[in-house]
Amino acid sequence: MVMNKFVFSKKLFVFLLSTVLLFSLLIPSMGDPKVVNGEALVYQDPNAAIPDRVTDLLARMSLDEKIGQMTQVDRTFLNSDNDIATYYLGSLLSGGGSAPTPNTPETWADMYDHYQSIALTNNLSIPIIYGIDAVHGHNNVYGATVFPHNIGLGATRNPTLLNQIGEVTAKEVAGTGIDWTFAPALSVARNERWGRTYESYGEDPEIASSYATIIEGLQGTNLNDPSTILATAKHWVGDGGTTGGDDQGDTQISEQDLRDIHIAPYINAINSGVGSIMISYSSWNSEKLHGHDYLIHDVLKGELGFDGFIVSDWAAIDQLPGDYASDVRTSINAGIDMIMIPDNYVNFINTLRTEVNEGRISMNRIDDAVSRILTKKFELGLFENPYTDRTFTASIGSQEHRDVAREAVRQSLVLLKNEGNILPLSKDLNKVFVAGKNADNIGNQSGGWTISWQGTSGDITSGTTILEGIQNTVSPNTTVTYNERGIGIKSDYDVAIVVIGERPYAEGNGDKQGSFGLERTDLTLLDKMKRAGVPTVVILVSGRPLIITDQLTDWNALVEAWLPGTEGDGVADVIFGDYNFTGTLPMSWPLTEEQIPINIGDPQYDPLFPYGFGLTYQP
Ligand code: GLC
Repeated sequence: MVMNKFVFSKKLFVFLLSTVLLFSLLIPSMGDPKVVNGEALVYQDPNAAIPDRVTDLLARMSLDEKIGQMTQVDRTFLNSDNDIATYYLGSLLSGGGSAPTPNTPETWADMYDHYQSIALTNNLSIPIIYGIDAVHGHNNVYGATVFPHNIGLGATRNPTLLNQIGEVTAKEVAGTGIDWTFAPALSVARNERWGRTYESYGEDPEIASSYATIIEGLQGTNLNDPSTILATAKHWVGDGGTTGGDDQGDTQISEQDLRDIHIAPYINAINSGVGSIMISYSSWNSEKLHGHDYLIHDVLKGELGFDGFIVSDWAAIDQLPGDYASDVRTSINAGIDMIMIPDNYVNFINTLRTEVNEGRISMNRIDDAVSRILTKKFELGLFENPYTDRTFTASIGSQEHRDVAREAVRQSLVLLKNEGNILPLSKDLNKVFVAGKNADNIGNQSGGWTISWQGTSGDITSGTTILEGIQNTVSPNTTVTYNERGIGIKSDYDVAIVVIGERPYAEGNGDKQGSFGLERTDLTLLDKMKRAGVPTVVILVSGRPLIITDQLTDWNALVEAWLPGTEGDGVADVIFGDYNFTGTLPMSWPLTEEQIPINIGDPQYDPLFPYGFGLTYQP
């Protein structure tokens, strides 16, 4: 019965079509506008003005949905991935080393997409924003391009290079789906005893001020561009000025000095449109920054007009005086918009809800915070394109990107001594001896914030060590002998290249309150070299100047390489003369421990090497 069959199949078709349509409305997809009463919701309309989208969405949100947007959780502390939806979480982060297993660009992108898919199951389908410390490249990801740490970039004095580094870093971060880096640090390190000195561009705010270009590299001209990510200027404010270089300590200076030295770099950062700012653990004249209403609300948001959102540091509000409710109330009322909890998010959410319901935090303050956060999510295009754009995944660790890092290594090197112009070395030397704990150790040459939070010695990621760079550069007729402890050195070697300095550390673990000289291991090695009577070129791989006055006389040449990252071959490029030295000191180099802290402009300024010092090859 042709007719009946036709009627039957038509009914079936209508039923199937309506089922599909119904499902398409229920399952959130990549930003298809929801339709209510025949019209798309404004916040879901990519053609609507962002302020209108924010206003529309805010009006649809419950208090719990708003509180969720202000809550940032480290992925390792999720009790269940579904809590992302249950608690309407607005942000996740990977703290240092918080990586998927195995650690590959693809698994990072899959992880990000997994979390995002859960977030979008929410009634309003608000995507998460995912943050990470990509502070010298996408340094948590195995195989990513890892650039010199900031102190080495400070030695380049090259804002254009910083812009390029921002662009490359953004592409590699975006290739894993992640939307937001907690960088750049605009710390002005005034005391090299501080464990985060290497995260600073230098002791004078002029360098950090000129490096707002990295923000433009990271964020591009349009955050909607899939190859760009949100940047964070940190840590507001005075993190590098604490007494004694005590990490998270107290910056005891006048307001004028705070403004001239530590606030100064934020002016260009804000003018460059930096999307977020992270608050410092430290205090200013004994008042914790995380509760500082004047410096956050009045100065940063008011006087300087910062219109992005402010994020706390890791569990930093817990350090505020008073109980947890007081911590929450004080920090949010001071103007912090998102709290990096990062663990006990249920307690935070319940506490914040109570503070609002009992009138100790106003709904205006909540709406201001959530509006700032949503504005960046709309600008990033997360509502339209919430998932990883895999076109950038393949660029992670690419030769093109590594070439930028290698150029950064070259420009970061500072030549401090070159007796008899022993450098540049000939590529045709007969016998070269290489020694030292940092010669063949990509973990040591990358420093902290590399694959793990503290960094690790050893073969922790891909790249070239300084030794490999030397081996790749000399002629086939040159014999390169390597022994970390210098065993085998003899007087018939043409030169000994000794690569020494510091081992990886991060944050307070790097605070150096005791002796500021070289490690015993290095001193023992140097004695061995001296006894062999071989001309010695010392390459110092360190996150800061060290006291080397007594040993310097025994060295024919000294190169400060800072923490060069994965492209160690950039060092050989310069010491064998393919490129000239251009780097200059971003930190004054103390003559004695007693001089620390020593900064350009100090009275009786008498360093071993002054701020801005650096030799070059003479033609
Ligand atoms: C750390 C650092 C901060 C970092 C944050 C997230 O404690 O102070 O620079 O962005 O936690 O890892």
